[in-house]
Amino acid sequence: MHFAPSETPEIVYCRDERFRLMIPNETLQTRITEIGSAINEEYDGKNPIFIGLLNGSFIFMADLIRNVTIDCEMDFIKLSSYGAEKISSGQVTEKKGLDAKIAGRHVIVVEDIVDTGLSMRYILEQMAHHQPASVKVVTLLHKPDATRENVQLDWVGFSIENKFVLGYGLDYGQLGRNLAAIYVLDEVS
Ligand code: IMP
Repeated sequence: MHFAPSETPEIVYCRDERFRLMIPNETLQTRITEIGSAINEEYDGKNPIFIGLLNGSFIFMADLIRNVTIDCEMDFIKLSSYGAEKISSGQVTEKKGLDAKIAGRHVIVVEDIVDTGLSMRYILEQMAHHQPASVKVVTLLHKPDATRENVQLDWVGFSIENKFVLGYGLDYGQLGRNLAAIYVLDEVS
């Protein structure tokens, strides 16, 4: 997986598996700008707090908040990851909790991808304990066919098929987060 940062390869290999380009960075940025504008309109004067879920959302969060022009704050939570697997373990554990006080605050949870929805359900339950003024959810990607939990998703960047994806913050066994675009596992070889 060696390439110059300015190139967008059609095919990349990660841990010996082949991935093909699914969403180029330009398309991601266009959608993120739209979501940022919607947030600017809805939250003007409310000083929302963005809560990013580590590690996967760090790039999306960075690009999203650079499209947010109103006053806002941010914090991060870290949940357990898939490890080197491509399917969810079905278990959610917290590795880093909230530092910010969110009672009475307008919270926007920022997720990279909602798959089964278990992580999001867990986060929303945790948020509710802290009595925020409101909670909304923005996820860059959603796999509707994989989602078992009935979770509220207020802004979805892209709905995608139920296949493993990589890049733009999302990893496969911790590799591939630095890819500028979203890639999908290429099962036809
Ligand atoms: P869920 O709890 O099953 O919805 O999974 C949420 C988390 O699993 C996401 O925040 C990602 O970190 C990870 N995840 C889910 N699907 C993928 C994928 O296709 N590629 C990489 N990570 C994924």
